[in-house]
Amino acid sequence: MRPALAAQPLVIREATQDDIAAAQAIYAAHVAKGLGSFEETPPDLAEMTRRWRDLTGPGLPYLVVETEGIVRGFAYAGLYRHRSAYRYSVEDSIYVEAGAMRRGLGRALLGELIERCTALGYRQIVAVIGDSANVASIGLHAHLGFQRVGVLHAIGFKFGRWVDSVIMQRSLGPGESVLPVTKRNP
Ligand SMILES: CC(C)(COP(=O)(O)OP(=O)(O)OC[C@H]1O[C@@H](n2cnc3c(N)ncnc32)[C@H](O)[C@@H]1OP(=O)(O)O)[C@@H](O)C(=O)NCCC(=O)NCCS
Repeated sequence: MRPALAAQPLVIREATQDDIAAAQAIYAAHVAKGLGSFEETPPDLAEMTRRWRDLTGPGLPYLVVETEGIVRGFAYAGLYRHRSAYRYSVEDSIYVEAGAMRRGLGRALLGELIERCTALGYRQIVAVIGDSANVASIGLHAHLGFQRVGVLHAIGFKFGRWVDSVIMQRSLGPGESVLPVTKRNP
């Protein structure tokens, strides 16, 4: 029987530099065994710390979820692309420790990430999901209102086989219904 992690209070908060070692360990395991990420060599702590700084420096959200004071997962939003016209669109990334999956942590993390991105004035959020068979990530994103907008067939090659990317998208706040009122710098 799975331990009742879901019964434990979840804490979702902004990641600090001290959390990045835990995030690195969680991510490294998924890179080594899964198709959710198209990285093949897990980034080390210095690289993960650099990525965290590059996102949070300009104010993008990078969150962790913990139970019993232990970091079980993380999620962040980066700009979808860096060219200036994409400046209202972000892309999410989310990873939960293998032993803590399917207990609501991903939903809580991604829900909070969506709220933060909305409050920051972003209008679209995109998920680029490794593997058409990644039912967990596709299901999680659908659960939070993302719609599947396309598939890039055989766009990756990992573990000796071709792998698709599933693209899912969700509006944030007013989405495209009104023009932005605040100027966002590219
Ligand atoms: C995707 C991931 C973050 C989901 O996190 P999680 O904590 O396990 O998800 P949750 O328990 O919050 O599930 C929320 C909803 O997502 C869907 N879901 C999650 N896991 C699922 C699975 N294995 N099969 C089908 N649906 C699933 C369900 O709708 C679920 O709601 P329900 O449990 O009420 O049915 C996690 O599985 C993970 O880290 N996967 C590997 C890395 C990865 O692929 N990350 C995404 C890269 S884009």
